[in-house]
Amino acid sequence: MEKRILITGGAGFIGSHVVRRFVKSYPGYKIVNLDKLTYAGNLLNLVDIEDEPNYEFVKGDIVDAGFIADLFSVYQFDAVIHLAAESHVDRSIANPMEFVMTNVIGTVNLLNAAKEYWKGDYDKKRFYHVSTDEVYGALGETGMFTEATSYDPHSPYSASKASSDHFVRAYHDTYGLDVVISNCSNNYGSHHFPEKLIPLAINNIKNNKAVPVYGKGENVRDWLWVEDHARAIDVIFHQAKTGETYNIGGHNEWKNIDLIKLLCKIMDQKLGREAGASEQLITYVTDRAGHDLRYAIDSSKLQHNLGWVPGLQFEEGLAKTVDWYLENEQWLNDVTSSNYQSYYETQYAER
Ligand code: NAD
Ligand code: TYD
Repeated sequence: MEKRILITGGAGFIGSHVVRRFVKSYPGYKIVNLDKLTYAGNLLNLVDIEDEPNYEFVKGDIVDAGFIADLFSVYQFDAVIHLAAESHVDRSIANPMEFVMTNVIGTVNLLNAAKEYWKGDYDKKRFYHVSTDEVYGALGETGMFTEATSYDPHSPYSASKASSDHFVRAYHDTYGLDVVISNCSNNYGSHHFPEKLIPLAINNIKNNKAVPVYGKGENVRDWLWVEDHARAIDVIFHQAKTGETYNIGGHNEWKNIDLIKLLCKIMDQKLGREAGASEQLITYVTDRAGHDLRYAIDSSKLQHNLGWVPGLQFEEGLAKTVDWYLENEQWLNDVTSSNYQSYYETQYAER
C-alpha cells in the first residue's frame, strides 16, 4: 500500500463522497473510515464500495482519546482527512456542548495522536482538516470571503469549527505538524441528511408537507455540488503546501426563497404536478437565532494555484439531486424512521 489514510466521518454526507472517491481513484491506498455512526452517519451511504479490498470501516468516537491513540498505533496511518463533526447549525443552537465535544475536543484528540505517532516523521505525514466558510461569519450585500478574512463565527456550530481550525494551525506553528485546511461553502447532492435545507425541502415537497423558510427567505448561500468538493479535497490533499488554507466554493449564490422556488418547479415537473402546485407548500416560519445573512466564497486561490474549478452547473445538479432522492425512497425512509420525527417536531413546533 502506498499510503494508509484515516478518513473520519466517512459515513456522513460529504465524508461518504470523499471515501468513495479515494477508494475508487487510489487502489494503492488503504482507506480506513472511522465513524461513530451518529444520527447523521449511515453505512448505507457506502454499500457500493464496502467490499473493496482497500477499504475498511471502524466504528468509534473521536472524543475517546485512548481509542484514537490505539487506532494510530494499530494502523500506522500516513495521513488523516478529518471530516467527522456535528454539522447542523440548528442542533448547535439547541445543544452546543455536543459541538464542543466532537468538533473541538475530537479534533484535538486526533491532533495529539498525530503529533505523538508521527514524531520525527512530520515531513512525510499530512493532517487535512475539512472546515466551513461559516467560520468567517456573515457578509452584507457585497464582498466575498478570502483566505485572509478574519474569523467571526456567530453560531455554536461555526464557533466550534473556528476553534478546531485554530487548534490545527497551532499544531503546525508550535510542533511543526504538516497540516492543510479547507473552508468550503454549502454542499448539496446525494446522501444529504434531510435536516439541511435542500434535502428537507425535497422530502417535504415529495410528501406534500409544508416547506419551512426561515424569516423572509432572503439569506444567501453559495451552493457547491458535493462531488466537486470531494474533488477539491483530493487536489488539495495531494498538492497543497504545508500549512496552507484553501477556500472552496461554487460561485453560485442563491437567496433561500429563490432556491426553494426553483426546487418546487423542478419537483412539479418530476412528480407530474401542475405548475405552481409545490410552491403552495412554502411556509414562512420564525427566523433562526443569529442567522447569518450571506455567505460567498472567493475560491480564486484554489483555481489559480491548483487548477480546480467547480464542475456541475446548479440547475443540473439540483435536478440530479431530486432524481436521486426520488429513486432512493428506501434510504429516505431509513434515515427519517428513528429519531427524525421527534427532532422535526421539536425543531419546527417552536417556530
Ligand atoms: P454530516 O453531519 O453529514 O456527517 C458527519 C459524520 O461525522 C457522520 O457520519 C457522523 O456519524 C460522524 N461523527 C459525528 N460525531 C462523531 C464522533 N464523535 N466520532 C466519529 N464520528 C463522528 O456532515 P457533513 O455535512 O458531511 O460535513 C462533513 C464535514 O464537512 C464537517 O466537518 C463539516 O463541518 C464540513 N463542512 C460541511 C459543509 C456542508 O455543506 N455540509 C460545508 C463545509 C464544510
Ligand atoms: P442549512 O442547510 O441548515 O445550512 P447552513 O445553515 O449551514 O447554511 O440552511 C441553509 C439556509 O436555509 C440557511 O440560511 C437557513 C435556511 N433554512 C430554512 O430557511 N429552512 C429550514 O428548514 C432549514 C433547515 C434551513
